[in-house]
Amino acid sequence: MRKNIVAGNWKMNTTLQEGVALAKEINEALKGVETKCDVVIATPFIHLVPVVEAVDAARIGVGAENCADKAEGAYTGEVSAAMVASTGAKYVILGHSERRAYYHETAEILKEKVVLALANGLTPIFCVGEVLEEREANKHFDVVGAQIKDSLFDLSAEDFAKLVIAYEPVWAIGTGKTATADQAQEIHAFIRQTIAEKYGKEIADNTSILYGGSCKPSNAGELFAKPDVDGGLIGGAALKADSFMGIITAFE
Ligand code: 13P
Repeated sequence: MRKNIVAGNWKMNTTLQEGVALAKEINEALKGVETKCDVVIATPFIHLVPVVEAVDAARIGVGAENCADKAEGAYTGEVSAAMVASTGAKYVILGHSERRAYYHETAEILKEKVVLALANGLTPIFCVGEVLEEREANKHFDVVGAQIKDSLFDLSAEDFAKLVIAYEPVWAIGTGKTATADQAQEIHAFIRQTIAEKYGKEIADNTSILYGGSCKPSNAGELFAKPDVDGGLIGGAALKADSFMGIITAFE
């Protein structure tokens, strides 16, 4: 059966020293605590090596927040999936709405990134989600369905089964405005159904689908209690060990 996962996305926050200190604090806080979820922290590229070294790999998986859409070569400033994997990181966030919006990542580009991440043994945490106007026009199912189909549905079933999906409504990211647990459940169920129609019920039932967008200790329990919400992708609240722990321990 699918895993519960709580993943922190640090975005472009923390210096190297601050990031390593935060990772150590989370690592300490987890000691002796029985969790009902896997814990992931996704950090800026330059933090990956020292963060991998600072945490207990049995308790915390480390991830990047992006990787290149090319394998290697003359792409100044880019970081490949193979480079990410060589740090000891196990995950990579792909398709975050900030990357789609600010760095013009298209469905095609993301398709390449997913293939390269998988080829290098990384688990992609693939993000989808609609903007406010799309929700208000009741287009969120179409938008999210297309994001999944356009970037992921050329994968073999074997490869698709390695993915984690994160639903992050753009209007809820960093705004303090969380989707209600019912809104999250409704679209998570839709995502699972979309996967089932393509890859079958077993793969759909085994796919972890995380919620992201102003998730915090006070609302995580209600969100995670929904049958199709398998954890969270956490931004702001992942930058403090105590609030991140409050989310990690929010499963009933
Ligand atoms: P916030 O938790 O800060 O809203 O960010 C969510 C997010 O974008 C995680 O990837």
